[in-house]
Amino acid sequence: MQDARFTPRVFSGIKPSGGLTLGNYLGAIKRFVEMQGQEFETIYCVVDLHAITVWQDPAELRAATREVAAGFLASGIDPERSILFNQSQVSQHAELAWILNCVARLGWMNRMTQFKEKAGKNAEAQSLGLYAYPSLMAADILLYHATHVPVGEDQKQHVELTRDIAAKFNHDYKVDFFPMTLPVIEGPAMRVMNLRDGTKKMSKSGESDMERINMTDDAHTIARKFQKARTDAAPLPETVEELDGRPEARNLVEIYAALAGITPAEVLARHPGAGWGQFKPALAELAVEKLSPISGEMARMMNDPAEIDRILARGAERARGIAAPILDRTLEIVGMVRG
Ligand code: TRP
Repeated sequence: MQDARFTPRVFSGIKPSGGLTLGNYLGAIKRFVEMQGQEFETIYCVVDLHAITVWQDPAELRAATREVAAGFLASGIDPERSILFNQSQVSQHAELAWILNCVARLGWMNRMTQFKEKAGKNAEAQSLGLYAYPSLMAADILLYHATHVPVGEDQKQHVELTRDIAAKFNHDYKVDFFPMTLPVIEGPAMRVMNLRDGTKKMSKSGESDMERINMTDDAHTIARKFQKARTDAAPLPETVEELDGRPEARNLVEIYAALAGITPAEVLARHPGAGWGQFKPALAELAVEKLSPISGEMARMMNDPAEIDRILARGAERARGIAAPILDRTLEIVGMVRG
């Protein structure tokens, strides 16, 4: 249930670690664009402080931050209608994160499956920041009293943690200050899988470039990657149910559906019994048609980084306008002496 005391406000973020993929576009950015409008105030953030929880080369981090910003803008995020900025320019994120570190419990953090997956057997060698990552994410959200957070399924647990932190803060300080933020998981967004292994998410940091479509890939590269995408030998089935147990086939059908704005069932109806030799080129053609205007615009913007930096700085200023009073009030509630 939506908390009626708070302005409907959307916050979401993308980490600038590596370039943007088709997964970021179909699973996140496309929906971020659709949420711009009367219903919500929309705040989108390039979460550079999150990126450095694992080592990033400074020059690559700067380039990736601008590329993610360019990807947002080229896809249709309007910097007037939305607030678009990079996290580190609004120092209130880190300040609120500290307060929330003192609210979150170790037992809660220990349950975070993403940390366990990322740390693997080597948890001792991970940064303290990677462990505290979900509490910084809670700060991102609560700093704006965001009511809705569009995220992928893998981030749902972090939004639930955000609610736990907000509830404990409100309870411990006997206030009704932070909202109970809702994750927005359903809707047109989808989970795009790896082209070489349909059981893994398409990731910008996976080893092989052939397993993902980058938003900056040219037409030839996109065609080659779909051509080489792993599939089973069977042709497209007649029904969506028959995609069960065929993760690679399902992924390509779902990518087609998301790009075309139709359902997977409609994809199967349009390509009855098609073999991969037919379907893959059709998919590549559609992907090029949809992505090339975006990648062209991204390339144009990346040639003028000063313009991107100006947009981010202006967004950060607007973000601070919302964040500063909320952090000030938080510090007051907690009992910090304010001059
Ligand atoms: N953790 C998110 C991810 O990996 C990125 C993120 C950081 C985020 N802060 C956020 C998403 C706040 C939504 C809201 O995808």
